Amino acid sequence: MDKKSKIIEIYKKKINLLKKHNKLYFNNDSPIVSDSEYDTLKKEIINLEKQNNFLKKLNLHKTIIGSPPSNKFKKVKHLKPMLSLSNAFDKKDMSDFVGKINNFLNIDNQNIEFSSEPKIDGISATLIYENGVLIKGLSRGDGTTGEDILENLKTINTIPKKIKDNNVPSLCEIRCEIYIGKKGFNNIKGEFANPRNAAGGSLRQKDPKETSKIPLEYFAYGFGVIKPMIFKTQIEFLTKIKSWGFSINPLSKIVKNLNEIESQHHHIDSVRSSLDYDIDGLVYKVNDLKLQSRLGNTSNSPRWAIAYKFSAEKAVTKIKDIVIQVGRTGAITPVAKVEPVTVGGVVVSNATLHNEDEINRKDIRIGDTVQIQRAGDVIPQVVQVDLSKRNQNSKKYIFPDKCLCGGLTQKERNKSTKKEDAVRRCTKGYDCDYIAKEKLKHIVSKDAFNIDGLGKKVIDQFWDLKIIREPSDIFTINYNKVENLEGWGKLSISNLKKAINKSKNIELDKFIFSVGIRHIGQENAKILAGFFQSIDKFSKLFKESNRKIVLRHLIDLDGIGEIQINSINSFFSSNKNKEIVEQLIQKLKINNYKARNKKGKFSNKTIMFTGGFEKMSRSEAKSLVENNGGKVLGTISKKLDILVTGNSKPTKKKIEQAKQLSIEIVRENEWYKILDI
Ligand code: IVH
Repeated sequence: MDKKSKIIEIYKKKINLLKKHNKLYFNNDSPIVSDSEYDTLKKEIINLEKQNNFLKKLNLHKTIIGSPPSNKFKKVKHLKPMLSLSNAFDKKDMSDFVGKINNFLNIDNQNIEFSSEPKIDGISATLIYENGVLIKGLSRGDGTTGEDILENLKTINTIPKKIKDNNVPSLCEIRCEIYIGKKGFNNIKGEFANPRNAAGGSLRQKDPKETSKIPLEYFAYGFGVIKPMIFKTQIEFLTKIKSWGFSINPLSKIVKNLNEIESQHHHIDSVRSSLDYDIDGLVYKVNDLKLQSRLGNTSNSPRWAIAYKFSAEKAVTKIKDIVIQVGRTGAITPVAKVEPVTVGGVVVSNATLHNEDEINRKDIRIGDTVQIQRAGDVIPQVVQVDLSKRNQNSKKYIFPDKCLCGGLTQKERNKSTKKEDAVRRCTKGYDCDYIAKEKLKHIVSKDAFNIDGLGKKVIDQFWDLKIIREPSDIFTINYNKVENLEGWGKLSISNLKKAINKSKNIELDKFIFSVGIRHIGQENAKILAGFFQSIDKFSKLFKESNRKIVLRHLIDLDGIGEIQINSINSFFSSNKNKEIVEQLIQKLKINNYKARNKKGKFSNKTIMFTGGFEKMSRSEAKSLVENNGGKVLGTISKKLDILVTGNSKPTKKKIEQAKQLSIEIVRENEWYKILDI
């Protein structure tokens, strides 16, 4: 081989290596080399090009864009959390959404105004302006803490660096979605899987010069903190910031009822493919900001907004096999293994069949030709069977009555409806390997321990290699073993160690949620943490005699009912569960519960409601108390401070009990006075 060919060969090898590392960074989120190793490789390529002009003619460097995102950005807490949105998929979901809003506000108005805006499929960021000057720019991060990516955001020319208006609020936080247009993406494709990945990677470049090479664009859609608040509606906000120079999606519009929501949906769906950016639905937001603030948020998403996704993409394929999967609650879910088919740009080879009843109802069999659909980020599902294509010899699918672990399964009976549950469950808890593995995935997930680098695939891998078997094993990982695994390098191991260390410091409510007691979701975990206050008190649940007493008190808590109490009881009745929780506690620093908002009218007060109110629903009354530092109880006891009686059908017995215990009684009208409404 002559010298020139040799150089070309070396050069090509290095380029391919760089591409491989980029792919690991951008698409798999699992880098295996450190930043400096990566930089060295890049420098070598540039030097080779400099010394050998003929290499440039190969045009290979064009296939490489940017460098891997850095993890060296400063972490900054958001002034206000960046929440996510719940999803709607059809008219009924939207009608439920409007219904819930009416219920919460205790009104009957089917004509509430909504702003309808395209949901851009990009990367969210927030821009903070002090006296009109852009001083901070953060990525969303986990919603609570973001990363300082100001310099990179500044490379987007259309983002105002200064708002030119004499009346701009002294503090103004503008939230936006950063994206790469379809045309822009075509020019830079390279190793990115899609425009969204490219935008994300570009925003996290160490060197803003790299970011500036990529054609980023944005739409501003909302606000965080604005002081003083000068807006009354969402549309007024959008119109104003447009005049300030922000880029606003031109397809935003006011709609007034379900019919208008539906027709706007069809309209935008029909023009969707002609837009230069990807959208996956429309966001509907209550237009009136006062109503927005009355509605408030649940743990993760506002009650005043929803993402109405475009209808599912469908495709036809064949079922090769039906297997079962076991979830962390023991639920047995049948899954169809189908011949791979592209649905809406994504290759699908698994589709859920939901449960035994669903298989029976649709008489789904192995070998059947079926239609499947995929909507947004939801698991693809089997919609219907094409019976005309069924093989004569096919047999009805018999649902297994055992779990994959060999253990017995059961269908529970719903106490109130007396009906059998559709879902079959394995009853072995942590003793079932399949459940145990899923529980681990829950523990490391975002809303629980939030350990970056320990995703589902890694848990599967570590489980199979017996590196992690029980939750407490997370904190005693044998890194020598990990080091030898493919895909793991010094950098990723050091990142994992850091993430695990960080997760040791955990709030009590998160810990309770993480443990994975059935029927104890994030909201209930908070209620329980508010009751127990410390891990020591929570640990009283371990001993049976104590547990009985504690559980009797839990019924006082609004939101905790018989189902939750029975579930806590059965969880702690298992020695295995107790052992697992105890071992985990030993590895952690669990912080005492701090009510998020202790200050307020109802600080340290307990309140109970009876009867209905005219101006608000029970849910709104409850959230008002909680947002003002108080706690809502569900029964009358000496611990209760105030009983608030609504004019509509208060329970006489409760009022009597309160009088006997000399508890303060507040009537509906006085209640409004206390609240200033
Ligand atoms: S409003 C409280 N409006 O979707 C959340 N979000 O799932 C308010 N997004 O993180 C979000 N276009 O990144 C809103 N017109 C739009 C949007 C939009 C895209 C993204 C945003 C947000 C995510 C919520």
